[in-house]
Order: sequence, then C-alpha cells, then structure tokens
Amino acid sequence: MQAVFGTNWKMRNVDQRTAQQYLITLADGLGGLLDDGVQVCVLPPATLLPAMSEVARKTSIRLGAQNFHWEEEGEYTGELSTALLKDAGATILMVGHAERRVLFNENDEVINRKLLRALEEGFHAILCIGEADRLTPEAHLQEELSAQLVSGLRGVNKADLNRLIVAYEPHWAIGRRVDAAAPVTRVKQSVEAIRGALKTIVGAENSVRLIYGGNVNLSNCREIASVNGIDGLFVGGAAADPAGFVSVIGRALDGAPD
Ligand code: 13P
Repeated sequence: MQAVFGTNWKMRNVDQRTAQQYLITLADGLGGLLDDGVQVCVLPPATLLPAMSEVARKTSIRLGAQNFHWEEEGEYTGELSTALLKDAGATILMVGHAERRVLFNENDEVINRKLLRALEEGFHAILCIGEADRLTPEAHLQEELSAQLVSGLRGVNKADLNRLIVAYEPHWAIGRRVDAAAPVTRVKQSVEAIRGALKTIVGAENSVRLIYGGNVNLSNCREIASVNGIDGLFVGGAAADPAGFVSVIGRALDGAPD
C-alpha cells in the first residue's frame, strides 16, 4: 500500500511567491521519499494553483483543490468547475470536509455528486468523513461512518477506486478551536469501522487508501500513522511551514507498518 500525505491550507492568506517557495522547500526536504513512491499532495486556496503548478510539475507532488462545483459549467456565480481547476494545475479534489459540511451546509447528496464529477473527470479524490460528536458511542460510530460512505460512494465505478482516498476526520478533532487529535483508541475503532464498511459497500476494502486528519502534529503522527489500516495523514496547522510537514511525514513513516 502506497503511503499518502496531504496538507489542506484552508483559507490561509499565502502569497504566490511564498507558496512556490513552500513547494521548493517541501520537495527538497522530502528528497528520496518522493522517489520511493510516497505520495504527497498540497491543497492550497485555488488562486495559488497556477503559480504553484509551475513548481509542482517538476516534482511528483500533487496539487489539489478544496472545493468545486459538481456541474460541468454554467450559471453558478462564484463557483469553480473541474475543468477550470484542471487547467490551473489541480489533479486531486477534496469533497466532504467537515468545515464544508458544517459551515456551508454541504449534504451527502452534494458530496456524492461532487465525488462522481471528480472521478469522472479523471481526478484523484479525497472523500472526508467523520463523526460530528466526540462522545459518539462505538456502535453509533460505525453507523455514522458507514452511512457517510454509503451515500458518498453511491454510483462510484469500482475501476475508479484506485484514485480514491478516504480521509477520516472527526469533526471534533479538527483545527485550532479544539487543539487535540482523536485518541488512538478512537482512531482504531473508526479505521476498523471504515474498512469494514468499505468491504460491504465496494467489496474492495484494501484498494482504497485511508488517511487520518485532525490535529496531527509531530508528537502524535507516529502513533496515529502506525494504526493498522491507515495509509497516511492529512495535516492542517502542523504543515503550515514546509519543514514542519517534512518532519511529520518523516516521523510518521518511521513508525508505519511496512
Ligand atoms: P488540522 O490539522 O489543523 O486540525 O486540520 C486538519 C484538516 O482539516 C485537514 O483537512
């Protein structure tokens, strides 16, 4: 299974020059890891994609977009289509992030339409799922994660699953507001639930890569990444500077099972 690490820049105000330098430093820092097949993606604000793709195209680092519209094109003021994002340099698209579900009311139907569009257009895709409440009991956890997968993956072609990454991101463990990752026991329960649900839904539980996101940092990355069934990490704040991201990746790989 190929290790995969991503960073979501959210709405951070980064200028084009700094964004390009980020990629140069990241690629330098990762060095041989990229040659060894570790997959790394960066999801900046979409306006930075063209400048960043000038640098990224000389590396195997993928650039991605945090949001897009599910229709091909048309009268959708303020939205970006997959074609526009492809032209700007994105090769991976994210759907279902907790902040979009909660703050922008994106429901399961919208998330499913977006995922189908992304895969149909040849992108790699990250489908974020996760329970809303920290106190969700284990039995409900299974139900909630499985329901998000069932609706998110409706109609997805099995042949496209090798371009899909599921990101387990419990809503209550994301961002500076909370400042703590999910405990490893919870990550283990969720990974088991997700792997089980994937087996039932698409019958290919191991061909889909699964990463964890939510307050990953240098202190917890190794333990989380070594949970059986996890293929990598999705990092926000701790990857704000490229050296931090490189350190997290290096330490996570140290502890990850072969
Ligand atoms: P933080 O690492 O800042 O909690 O963000 C994770 C995230 O939302 C990745 O999509």
